[in-house]
Amino acid sequence: MAVERTLSIIKPDAVAKNVIGEIYSTFEKAGLKVVAARMMHLTTEQAGEFYAVHKERPFYNDLVSFMTSGPVMVQALEGENAVLAHREVMGATNPAEAAEGTIRKRFASSIDENACHGSDATDTAAQEIAFFFGDDGVCPRTR
Ligand code: TYD
Repeated sequence: MAVERTLSIIKPDAVAKNVIGEIYSTFEKAGLKVVAARMMHLTTEQAGEFYAVHKERPFYNDLVSFMTSGPVMVQALEGENAVLAHREVMGATNPAEAAEGTIRKRFASSIDENACHGSDATDTAAQEIAFFFGDDGVCPRTR
């Protein structure tokens, strides 16, 4: 299996619930290693650019507003099949449809305040990691 990296964001709702540690523990139990991490309060420009792919969607403005409503915890995760493994522990976009035990089932309250973000493919993961950490801001985990 391929060792991959993915970009993960603990969104303002989950940071406000003070569950960063519980979410990191979930990553660790899934074999995902933190290789970069940064807490930040996104500007409207940053959130708008990050979610530019959704610019034409009806929820875009609310999404940008939510993502700038408080601090977020951003991390790059590394592990075997990390993109899919991370999406599995996040659960479905809509927490009402998320499987038991997933981060969104446990901590999200609605589809628009859904606790976490995860890259959807290895190419977008590379772009998203570079967006937050640059090209050399990640520490590979060799052990
Ligand atoms: P999307 O890429 O479809 O989901 P995911 O985060 O699971 O990859 O959507 C990006 C974010 O946009 C999603 O996490 C929350 C927000 N969103 C809404 O607020 N309303 C919606 O109807 C959808 C589909 C997404």
